[in-house]
Amino acid sequence: MSITVVLPKNEYSVSLGAALLPLLPPGSRWADPDDSLEDLQGARLLFAVALDEGGMNLSCCQMISRLRREDGLLEGCLGAVVVVGRGELYTKDVARDLVLAANLAGCAFLGRPLVEATGDLRNFYVQASIYRTDERTAFRMAVQELTWRLVRFEPLPPARRFLVLHASLRATSNTLALWDLVKRGLPGEAEVTELCLRGDTLADCAGCSYTACLHFGQQGGCFYGGPMVEEVFPAVRACDALVMLCANYNDALAANLTAFINRLTALYRQTRFYDKRLYGLIVSGYSGGDLLARQLISALNMNKSFYLPPRAFLLETANDKGSLVKLPGVAERSLDFARHMAE
Ligand SMILES: Cc1cc2nc3c(=O)[nH]c(=O)nc-3n(C[C@H](O)[C@H](O)[C@H](O)COP(=O)(O)O)c2cc1C
Repeated sequence: MSITVVLPKNEYSVSLGAALLPLLPPGSRWADPDDSLEDLQGARLLFAVALDEGGMNLSCCQMISRLRREDGLLEGCLGAVVVVGRGELYTKDVARDLVLAANLAGCAFLGRPLVEATGDLRNFYVQASIYRTDERTAFRMAVQELTWRLVRFEPLPPARRFLVLHASLRATSNTLALWDLVKRGLPGEAEVTELCLRGDTLADCAGCSYTACLHFGQQGGCFYGGPMVEEVFPAVRACDALVMLCANYNDALAANLTAFINRLTALYRQTRFYDKRLYGLIVSGYSGGDLLARQLISALNMNKSFYLPPRAFLLETANDKGSLVKLPGVAERSLDFARHMAE
């Protein structure tokens, strides 16, 4: 299986291309998104983005704009991303923007799909010390590992066990109403586990040392114990697909959903989630659902390694209690999403 490197051009893209060239598998192809985005369907794509001093790549911005407007452009693709910046900022932001746009245009993404290099490569300090090498070599190793996983990835079997997490009140929540519509469309053989993460027993991560976290994680737990360890961790281990039900609270996930992701670090210390899909149902009162989708991408796909299936998010806008079910076309969109989740 060959890969196609999508390299948006700017003054730094030539040197990024030259740095990547010796790290790519034989037979890799190159694509300039300014003129060849329509020939990519079904390909394994490595997006390689060099940022300028302003943290931008204008050709990449144009590509994102096109992806947002033409939703089948990357049908059947599987993606990974390399972003190199000039300073410490903006690499993650550009990457998750690109991943969201490409995902909604039909591209799946590997779990942990991003290798980013901040200007001075300081973000590779830890990996370089683990492998007893310098930051430049650690960066190259990370790119090679990423392209290796991109080439070798085997499509996942259909998901049957769905773990659904939320922190909403059933009596009033539009987000839970959206889930009820989706759930109706799942096939009879789907096994659904719903867990409500409301309540004050779900403490956020204490930020233990790496070794303490590893120690508790290897025993299947976490320093705090409690429902997260007894109920939620085993359910994550058992599922094929994690479905996050996310009400927009100040343009972010609700606190307990964030606490879940933070606490998941203990489980991530001992296992990767490459074979578990991530889906998000996101409801905003007014606007900003894309911000939560980006939050799920960076936290659960990029950091915690969940596989991002194509079109992983269903985004709706409804504020008043009971108003979601009255949105035009919402029942059909929910059924389509359910069918897509079970494919
Ligand atoms: C604490 C809080 C913060 C909220 N912040 C936002 C917001 O930043 N943007 C927005 O569009 N809606 C916001 N909303 C509205 C909800 O997103 C909206 O009610 C939506 O229907 C999903 O919430 P629900 O599932 O609880 O009904 C907020 C609601 C609450 C309770």
